[in-house]
Amino acid sequence: MHSNSKYPVEMLSEIESIIGKASSVNIRQTQQQGLCLGIENQYGSVVISVFGGHVISYINKSNNKERLWLSERAVFDGETPIRGGIPICWPWFSSHATQAAYPSHGYARTQLFTLVEVQEVTQNNQVTNTKVTLRPSKVNQYGYSLINMKLVVTLSEALTVDIITTNNGGKAIALTQALHSYFLVDDINHVKLNGLDTPFDDKLTSTINNSALSNYRLVQEVDRIHGFQHAQYSNIQTIHIVNDNRDSQASMHSIEQSGHDSTVVWNPWIDKSKSMDDMENDGYKTMLCIEAANTVNAQHPLILAPHQSHRLSQKIL
Ligand code: BG6
Repeated sequence: MHSNSKYPVEMLSEIESIIGKASSVNIRQTQQQGLCLGIENQYGSVVISVFGGHVISYINKSNNKERLWLSERAVFDGETPIRGGIPICWPWFSSHATQAAYPSHGYARTQLFTLVEVQEVTQNNQVTNTKVTLRPSKVNQYGYSLINMKLVVTLSEALTVDIITTNNGGKAIALTQALHSYFLVDDINHVKLNGLDTPFDDKLTSTINNSALSNYRLVQEVDRIHGFQHAQYSNIQTIHIVNDNRDSQASMHSIEQSGHDSTVVWNPWIDKSKSMDDMENDGYKTMLCIEAANTVNAQHPLILAPHQSHRLSQKIL
């Protein structure tokens, strides 16, 4: 990993004062990963880089295993999006709808987030729930105005990440976004996905509405957008990443998501991994992105009316 991050001096003291007496949140500043917030409570630990409000590690104490994949070649220079963890794609997903020159996946993942609030629930002297709220430092740019977002990271029995977007203006705003989570898997050749039985658009073949897959395994590069019937964004979708080898049928990850109209499945496989500077050549073998998203591919893409808020949520059990 490569790091050369710089942060405004006042940022540290501001974070310290917001953390205050909260015992489950701390500041972690390392040469490699720069300025991060650490959460550790009864149920697990989480590391959030202030660059991009990016969760880069999540360990659940039930088995003490890391749940998120982070590239060994991830760049922590305060400019390059971090490869791995949970990138925040906002306020657009993939290429911008009309401006091809705008950065892919929006501008949230390449800016500093500020800490807004820390809340803890304690039982028998143990912190059982820690909620950390952050905001990107600059939200109104690239033609967006009067849009606001907060990122809420909650660690309890599970890790929940929410993006809450509010339209503070008088005009409707089209919003696309994603929680672009990279999951760590033992071996991609033994991964089976359950709960993703909807038709999908294939970005690699530029085909739409491909039939749902009944036996979902990954054997090649995958970049798919699956539709999700969200019923006014109230439905919860549960997806399991299962370890399907001869000895084990164990669920490596259970994911619950809501507020989305699409689930993106991405794995760059061999050739694309080799072509990416911030990915190991064989990185594709131990990762898989399952992204809770709002996309233009949805039947009715998300439009935020004036003063309306929207919550996109992903919970990792
Ligand atoms: C996925 C997209 O969400 O992210 C892919 O569907 C893209 O097309 C991938 O390649 C990684 O994007 P990036 O910008 O982080 O390299």
